[in-house]
Amino acid sequence: MPRTRALLASVLVGCGCLAVPDAAAAPDPEPFHWGVASSGFQSEGSAPDSNWRRYAETEEPYRNSVDFRHRYAADIALAKDLGVNTYRFGVEWARIEPAKGRLDETELAYYDDVVRRVRAAGMTPMITLDHWVYPGWVADQGAWDNPATVGDWLANARRVVGRYAHQGVLWITFNEPVIYLQKEISGRKLNPFQIAAMRQHLVAAHRNAYDEIHRLDPGSRVSSNLAYLPPPLQQLTDPLFTDAVADKLDFVGLDYYYGLSLDNLTAIHGATGELWKIDPQPDGLYYALRAYQRKFPRLPLYVVENGMPTDDGKPRADGYTRSDHLRDHVYWLRRARDEGVNVLGYNYWSLTDNYEWGSYRPRFGLYTVDVATDPALTRRPTDAVDAYRRVIADGGVPADYTPVRRPAWCAFADLRTCLANLPWP
Ligand code: BGC
Repeated sequence: MPRTRALLASVLVGCGCLAVPDAAAAPDPEPFHWGVASSGFQSEGSAPDSNWRRYAETEEPYRNSVDFRHRYAADIALAKDLGVNTYRFGVEWARIEPAKGRLDETELAYYDDVVRRVRAAGMTPMITLDHWVYPGWVADQGAWDNPATVGDWLANARRVVGRYAHQGVLWITFNEPVIYLQKEISGRKLNPFQIAAMRQHLVAAHRNAYDEIHRLDPGSRVSSNLAYLPPPLQQLTDPLFTDAVADKLDFVGLDYYYGLSLDNLTAIHGATGELWKIDPQPDGLYYALRAYQRKFPRLPLYVVENGMPTDDGKPRADGYTRSDHLRDHVYWLRRARDEGVNVLGYNYWSLTDNYEWGSYRPRFGLYTVDVATDPALTRRPTDAVDAYRRVIADGGVPADYTPVRRPAWCAFADLRTCLANLPWP
């Protein structure tokens, strides 16, 4: 009987004789998240004692970065003006708990206002609990070698999550844990035992935090964004963290910057920090999304970071612009989605230039800021501001868009490209 009724209904609907129950019955699909991403330490300035405050002493002076701490209202307005509906920022543990057990109410009120303004601007806050920075007192107790740090970190996570619960926050526990490990290996000169301890403690903290966040903020979504590394590096690094927390992720957060292929080995410049020398490989985003969809079929994906470094804001020698880069990546993102990859969102790294872990030279901002030479820290729009505004308004690039960068030949991420994308006609 139900089958007959369904058949009858479909005939009536097909002939237009029966009104289709309107979409009100079905929940609205979640709008795609177009966002901008930033981190606390890299953009806030006025930084309290922390591991990175200390590391920065031997690097290019940190100064006050781009002073997001005092200019956040204007920066949030810039993001709103782009049309983004998601704003990723960090709540710095070192700022709100400068000494063990002592909270800084002024700094907590500052974050309250950031969250309030982001939401008032109609944006979803994506909050990072740890973007590689911990308080100086945690450094003094042995940082992540010390098991006590896990408990201290979780106490802070509970404090932050409890404070901003029920506000539609997307939660990120650790930013790029594998790169966090790498930064700490060089910052603290970790030996293999310390490395193993840190890895184990990050995994434990995330697993615990995942359950705690769901208890404190039911219905929210939690991830830890991974830095995409092309094979074979991906296979070597995923087991360190992502595979160990795969059952404690609500989406796979993926940061895509660089690819590797036989015709483009420039990612090697990452080793010296000369990031602007790396030749972008936009089609790699497509391979990366497909690879992680295959690996974690039950989880949606989210491009938590993507952006292009320039050398101190100078145009690239090859003429490839920030807007070319942005549109090319959005093109490949759409290709992946068209083929059924479930992608929730895309964040551009970053709204403004910021402290690139030791240097202001690599610049990723949609708005550029001359920290070293402009005391007014003026936000000057790059060509990508209009481009991103257009992309967001149109929901992507035009259907007939042709990427400026040709696809890679023999991308390590998909060896079928050795035959498909021959570099000669
Ligand atoms: C990090 C950011 C960094 C960006 C550009 C990512 O690995 O999460 O903090 O600024 O890459 O290098």
